Amino acid sequence: MTQKGIHGVWASRWTFVLAATGSAVGLGNIWKFPYMSGENGGGAFVLVYLVCICLIGLPVMMAEVLIGRRGRQSPINSMRFVTQEAGMHGIWTSIGWMGVIAGLLIMAFYSVVAGWALQYVWATASGVFTHMDPGQIGGHFSALLGNPSQLLVWHTIFSFLTAGVVALGVNRGLGAVANIMMPVLFLALLVLVGYSLLHGDFAAGFHFLFDFEIERLSWPGVLKAMGHAFFTLSLGMGAIMAYGAYMPAHASIARTVITVGILDTLVALTAGLAIFPIVFANPPLEPSAGPGLLFVSLPIAFAAMPWGAIFGTVFFILVSLAAWSSSVSLIEPGVAWLVESRKFRRPTATFLLTGIAWLLGISCVLSFNLWSEFKPALMLYKTPFDFLDFLTSQLMLPLGGLFIALFVGWCMRKAVVEREMDAEGHPIFDIWRFVVRFISPALVALVMILTLIDSF
Ligand code: PHE
Repeated sequence: MTQKGIHGVWASRWTFVLAATGSAVGLGNIWKFPYMSGENGGGAFVLVYLVCICLIGLPVMMAEVLIGRRGRQSPINSMRFVTQEAGMHGIWTSIGWMGVIAGLLIMAFYSVVAGWALQYVWATASGVFTHMDPGQIGGHFSALLGNPSQLLVWHTIFSFLTAGVVALGVNRGLGAVANIMMPVLFLALLVLVGYSLLHGDFAAGFHFLFDFEIERLSWPGVLKAMGHAFFTLSLGMGAIMAYGAYMPAHASIARTVITVGILDTLVALTAGLAIFPIVFANPPLEPSAGPGLLFVSLPIAFAAMPWGAIFGTVFFILVSLAAWSSSVSLIEPGVAWLVESRKFRRPTATFLLTGIAWLLGISCVLSFNLWSEFKPALMLYKTPFDFLDFLTSQLMLPLGGLFIALFVGWCMRKAVVEREMDAEGHPIFDIWRFVVRFISPALVALVMILTLIDSF
């Protein structure tokens, strides 16, 4: 297996930052992070999440980019290349396979939630929320969840949008979208934080997010925070590996990854600071409202602020765009492999894989209505929606990350890793390598084992 001649390379390090940020910043930051913090004790969850980003997320992300750039192919074939180069057993290639499957499983529920965001573009634009009180806004969301055909329509539209980009080739236009979208999204979130400062209970929201109360923490909560660190950085499933394959040879992996990590974390914290003050200022709302939190809190602000309908529409368009630039990276690893190794045409591969995720997504659509009571023992008494989220965020991504860290830390030759990191003789390199060899894998394993023990 050779590594040469398969890929082009992006013009600059910045294009990788844009693509990777496009993948990382998405529903995970704006939808999932706030509601998970709300459900799992606020500040305690946030602190564990931040520690996981630093000690596990960023080091593993560097490892994942490194494999991608070394292999310069689809994640499965990059894994195969580095495995052979290191003279290791072919079983390590399963990291790539597991990633492809995880991507499709995530896409199944991701596109349903992105469908909610699309519905909210429509609803805000038509002024639905303008004269609603918080109770009615909650009612709108419940009504949406209770209507499977509506959910299915939006889920289908979002799946098509994703397939459209992947079929054209991810690295063609996506950079441009991210280039404009990210700053505007961030600006919109800052405006919402401003609104929360003026009209929400900002102090309560701030304390909730940043006061560390250890008694609110449980091992399952720690696993959720760790799993979310993987989810929000798009780690452990090959998305970042696929993008790393296009990274110019001499761009600094460490600096690039840290930039992406900072941007991603800033967006999540800003979203939290926008949402929780509104929650605390409107008593019927609870921080632990669950997956609907974003969709029942921010429309309260849009209903009350001048130009709220326009601003709200722009906001949900931005959320949908952010979800879009993430979802393409869920499908891309599998498509890249089918094109590269199975000689599929790109559109055929794309529609095949997006179709599988779409079909699975129907079980998530039905999780909120017809099948809300369907919680078989085999799925740990969870709905398909909750189960797929659990399976991917709390098991597959951390395991993928664990094996990536072990592979780069223990299997690849130090000289190769050092050269690929462009870090010959740099003291920080030794610290990073130590973290990837010992700290990150040990932490992932420890959290998973202690949670397992705790659950019995
Ligand atoms: N990181 C994305 C988000 O936060 C989700 C994602 C996970 C994308 C895994 C790709 C791979 O929304």
